[in-house]
Amino acid sequence: MFQSKISGLGYYVPNNIVTNDDLSKVMDTNDEWIKERTGIEQRRHVEAHDTTTSMGVEAAKVAIERAGIQKEDIDFVIFATLSPDLYFPGPGVMVQKELGLRTVGALDVRNQCSGFLYALSVGDQFIKTGMYKNILIIGSETHSRGLDMSTRGRGVSVIFGDGAGAAILSRSEEEGTGLLSTHLHAQGEHAEELALMAPGMGNRWVSDIVRENDPNDVSYYPHMNGQFVFKNAVVRFSEVINEGLKANNLTVEDIDLLVPHQANLRISQYIQHKFNLTDDQVFNNIQRYGNTTAASIPIALTEAWEQGKIKKGDTIVLAAFGSGFTWASAIIKW
Ligand code: UT7
Repeated sequence: MFQSKISGLGYYVPNNIVTNDDLSKVMDTNDEWIKERTGIEQRRHVEAHDTTTSMGVEAAKVAIERAGIQKEDIDFVIFATLSPDLYFPGPGVMVQKELGLRTVGALDVRNQCSGFLYALSVGDQFIKTGMYKNILIIGSETHSRGLDMSTRGRGVSVIFGDGAGAAILSRSEEEGTGLLSTHLHAQGEHAEELALMAPGMGNRWVSDIVRENDPNDVSYYPHMNGQFVFKNAVVRFSEVINEGLKANNLTVEDIDLLVPHQANLRISQYIQHKFNLTDDQVFNNIQRYGNTTAASIPIALTEAWEQGKIKKGDTIVLAAFGSGFTWASAIIKW
């Protein structure tokens, strides 16, 4: 069996900064409410030239360079997103084309906030078996083009932001380091508590017809039962972090840095207190980017690394919860 490690990280966010005050000009909301309930101060929204694929490509270029490999060295692409440019094909193949990769395989992962960790886990299995040596993993989201930016959608639209993060997962020769384990979960019974109902082959045609005659049809906008999601998130985050620690005979005292999916600053703070971690042990950047779903962990991990918060030998815990419901964790010895 081989081991995998993250050998390069990168991110890209659009230049367009949208503050809470900017949002209050188009819907009935305010800076105080958003900061108090979510911790978010600003987020990025795509400009005309940005797409989920293009942002993923930019993040990938940085990660490839930092990994010290050439694009020819990439054996496989995994792309996690809930906001692909096209309904099909997914953005994995577009990245393969845009970067001019060999005709390597390209896989799209549909696990929303947990998407990057699901992708990391899939990549890890391919490296462990010896099938691939370098895998490009991307999480990228364009939320802003699909949100209800009226007061009706304010419970969802103030939270989400656009951006992309990427990692190169490579074969490692160093025993006991790298990606130690990943832990994946799902509970489909709550699928519709955080979902986009259309377009989808389930009701796309019905929605089209309804929408033509009914301006109140919201099936094309994401729906979130915020409080229900919040309550489940804090429980599942805790469970899956504990599961990861236990699987590696580690305890909370061993955590050097927790990089949680940036869902809501209140969720991160709840977990921080529950695990008795200091401010330095939990990395948050939701204040500046909002919730970027599959992109949030790779963007945060990249920033933490760039800021020198990750050192060789550190134990890093990644954890996510979101639509599906799906939740996951990864334990890394850097
Ligand atoms: O990453 C995927 C996972 N997602 C999450 O983890 C999100 C989890 N949930 C949350 O973060 C929170 O539930 C929210 C931030 C989405 C909402 O916060 P909340 O404290 O649960 O607020 P609420 O939905 O219960 O709404 C409270 C009030 C309502 O008004 P009334 O009925 O009390 O008069 C809302 O209409 O706040 C109102 N409200 C707003 N007011 C100003 C909802 N959104 C806004 C807004 N600005 N943007």
